[in-house]
Amino acid sequence: MLKKSPDSSAVHRRRPRYPGRNPRRFEDKYKELNPERYAADVEKILASGKTPAGTHRPIMVDEVLRCLQPAPGEVAVDCTLGGGGHAEAILQRVQPGGRVIGLDVDPLELPRTELRLRAAGFGEDVFVARHGNFAGLPQVLAAEGIAAADIVLADLGVSSMQIDNPARGFSYKEPGPLDMRMNPSHGEPASQLLARLSEDKLAALLTENADEPHAGLIASLLKQQPVATTHAVERVVRTGLTEALPRLAKTDVKMSVRRTFQALRIAVNGEFSALDALLRSLPQCLAPGGRVVMLTFHSGEDRRVKKAFQAGHRAGVYAEVATEVIRSTKEETFANRRASAAKLRWAVRAR
Ligand SMILES: C[S@@+](CC[C@H](N)C(=O)[O-])C[C@H]1O[C@@H](n2cnc3c(N)ncnc32)[C@H](O)[C@@H]1O
Repeated sequence: MLKKSPDSSAVHRRRPRYPGRNPRRFEDKYKELNPERYAADVEKILASGKTPAGTHRPIMVDEVLRCLQPAPGEVAVDCTLGGGGHAEAILQRVQPGGRVIGLDVDPLELPRTELRLRAAGFGEDVFVARHGNFAGLPQVLAAEGIAAADIVLADLGVSSMQIDNPARGFSYKEPGPLDMRMNPSHGEPASQLLARLSEDKLAALLTENADEPHAGLIASLLKQQPVATTHAVERVVRTGLTEALPRLAKTDVKMSVRRTFQALRIAVNGEFSALDALLRSLPQCLAPGGRVVMLTFHSGEDRRVKKAFQAGHRAGVYAEVATEVIRSTKEETFANRRASAAKLRWAVRAR
């Protein structure tokens, strides 16, 4: 008779079969998705410069903390809670007496992050997770009975958990429905947006949201047939650009595919209008002397943050603002490729 190993569970599950040595599909990455049980494997993945599936590595934590200077007793709002990495670092520094409000528009990941932070020892008295859009930050603060926060952080864009999950349709690397909604119960999926927009409107969107140099051509390719999956968009853009512009380098084609996904995601989630609303409401949400940090990942975001901070500085709303962007260190960029695009800007509210 076979002896049961001490940790064998009641229901025996066969190891998933996948071609090659390592699993490639999100669902098969069972070790990465169980960091508590397979800690050593997860460590190995991290050491190789990759992010384990279903997790998010916070970017530029030291730089964020240096600019925010969280101190005991302070109230902080993390507008983009994600996996809670930044929030956890801030929580450790605002104790005793301080608290963090963690806001995220994603109703699927929010409860997981809340559980993780509770398990890390942060009770309701010091940390609350709230589902919502940072465009409504003043209302969020009012609901918590907070007149103004000492610290505001926004780490824009999507988390690795969202990108990794093929069912959410954010990545051209995985087959999935063309959805891309951070909040799947709100708005229209990217497939519907594509079907609804005229070719001209689509071209304008690709230019405006991602500075795509082949916007007109890509828009015409995507409007020639219905596309409802991530792989269909990737295939249509890649093959269409390669056929129409045979001298275009493969890396440039890949960049256009990426930018197409970025532009659609920004439109689906109304990312620019949410950011504009947040930037407008920041002065009233920050206490005198309060600090704000924004991490952006493309020029459309950074331009908005830079302009708003500089205009606020000229108007005397901010006492000090970043004159230059802060970038991640070489070591971090090597260890976490997502960090290479990150730009950090900060501002301090006038007293
Ligand atoms: C880059 S991740 C944040 C990661 C986080 N700093 C961490 O340490 O894990 C961005 C997060 O912001 C959320 N998000 C994006 N736009 C938002 C918005 N307008 N309002 C609230 N949350 C938003 C996304 O759902 C995602 O979870």
